Amino acid sequence: MVDRYVLGISAFYHDSAACLLREGEIVAAAQEERFTRKKGDAAFPLQAARYCLAAGGITPSDLAYVGFYDKPLTKFERILETYLGVAPRGFGQFRMAGPLWMKEKLFLDREIRRALAYDGEILYAEHHESHASSAFFPSPFEEAAILTIDGVGEWATAAVGVGRGNDLELLQELQWPDSVGLLYSAFTYFTGFKVNSGEYKVMGLAPYGQPKYVDRIYRELLDLRDDGSFTLNQKYFQYLTGLTMTNGAFSQLFGGPPRVPESKLTQREMDLAKSVQVVCEEIMLRMARTAHRATGLENLCLAGGVALNCVANGRILRESPFKRLWIQPAAGDAGGALGVAQLIWHRYCNQPRSVRPGADGMRGAYLGPSFTPDEIAAYLLLAGEKVIGWFDGRMEFGPRALGARSILGDPRSPRMQAQMNLKIKFREGFRPFAPSVLRERVSDYFELDADSPYMLLVAPIKATRQIPMTTEQQQLWGIDQLNVERSDIPAVTHIDYSARVQTVSRDTNPNYYDLITEFDRLTGCAVLVNTSFNVRGEPIVCTPADAYRCFMRTHIDHLVLGPFLLDKTRQPEWKESGEWQREFQLD
Ligand SMILES: [Fe+2]
Repeated sequence: MVDRYVLGISAFYHDSAACLLREGEIVAAAQEERFTRKKGDAAFPLQAARYCLAAGGITPSDLAYVGFYDKPLTKFERILETYLGVAPRGFGQFRMAGPLWMKEKLFLDREIRRALAYDGEILYAEHHESHASSAFFPSPFEEAAILTIDGVGEWATAAVGVGRGNDLELLQELQWPDSVGLLYSAFTYFTGFKVNSGEYKVMGLAPYGQPKYVDRIYRELLDLRDDGSFTLNQKYFQYLTGLTMTNGAFSQLFGGPPRVPESKLTQREMDLAKSVQVVCEEIMLRMARTAHRATGLENLCLAGGVALNCVANGRILRESPFKRLWIQPAAGDAGGALGVAQLIWHRYCNQPRSVRPGADGMRGAYLGPSFTPDEIAAYLLLAGEKVIGWFDGRMEFGPRALGARSILGDPRSPRMQAQMNLKIKFREGFRPFAPSVLRERVSDYFELDADSPYMLLVAPIKATRQIPMTTEQQQLWGIDQLNVERSDIPAVTHIDYSARVQTVSRDTNPNYYDLITEFDRLTGCAVLVNTSFNVRGEPIVCTPADAYRCFMRTHIDHLVLGPFLLDKTRQPEWKESGEWQREFQLD
């Protein structure tokens, strides 16, 4: 049977992410910010999704479902109602915002389809269901109470639920605008840190302060009940309507205006940090006790951005009635991508869940890109216009080197063709080189959208990449035309704008595929020059000894020999012996 894949996505609030499941197992998960290098990037996680698909060796058409981690329509409704002054209070029945798998006919459907070139089914989960799912399904527990606490999703700001086997249910929720996350963020803002990312600084500052404002917080800011639910006194907050978190009344209560970001920290900020931390710990403890009462279970799973408050988590473990605690490492909204994917798999598809006692399903949270030493080295070298001997895995059958016994270079370099021909292959400078390109990117570079795994198809360079020759260049005679750059990948562009293309798929050569992927990620070019690992007149290398010999006798700069990287400049002097030297006159 063909494996079924589910892609989960979280986006558009902060910290976008993607996560891929294969038959329910997490294949890959990553946050978009790591690729775009924009902290907390909220944009559609296109690069993260691409990475996940590549890690699974699949294309979007292989996906059974794409899931989105919350319901933007409901969130929008909440924002509207907030302006109309509707404000529910206390823990209430978990409020389903609509049919469980409502089909949001919003811009989002279109956005996802367009971005991923995907035309299958798209499902949406409740924000706190995604958090709860990310907390329970990967946990090492057969059954557990679930507590999710964050700033806000659609309406819920905290939820209590229960997970059993392959299902979970949310029982109660606390609703906007009564939110632990927003309370903490208000103090984050007031103490001069960045909301949504500076919260951990407040937590780190707390031990330097005294809890001198705790009473004031309880008296003025919130009405805390035994079950952990509370009402925030909106007189002091601005986040419902304004761009800042707190207002003048808040400043008055805590002895002056907010600290200016980057200015000197004073004792006041430390005391404020300590105070809000103490209050949050108390709220979380009470909520945990509520979750225990509601379920009678011994295990607790936590997620939601507030579950990153490890000081409070430690107190829950020590002081609550729960015996065991498991916390989703991507507790914030990034983890929603993982949550919705698992929710689709277990609940929507009703697939069983296997629990390994003592081991969770997160694989140590090591779910992002990895790079083998040779990939790293090859990147450093390829992008530096070095020429690499690439010796990896089983040797090819047939005349072509396909990424197991290959010499590789950067196709963007206008000097590469001549250099590889003359200094490495010891052959005529005009001879063209072939490109290896990621299968799913082939039509970005060539007028071709088909498999060509064995380098047996010639196709024109994509028209938009061709650089037409000037009249002057057209007058050049014969070989002089070699030096004319014909495209933005000149080293693989033949004189007639053609190329002999090899498409590379992850299932047939994962290492080579990952290398090109990495080269692409770092340079924006999903193509490498690939020529056979030999010199003119010699068969392609077979053994490591063949490869080393060829490496030492040519101007290949570096040799990747399986997991080993060899630098030409650090090799002992090569002494020729016998026949080969007579055959080839080297300079
Ligand atoms: Fe959240």
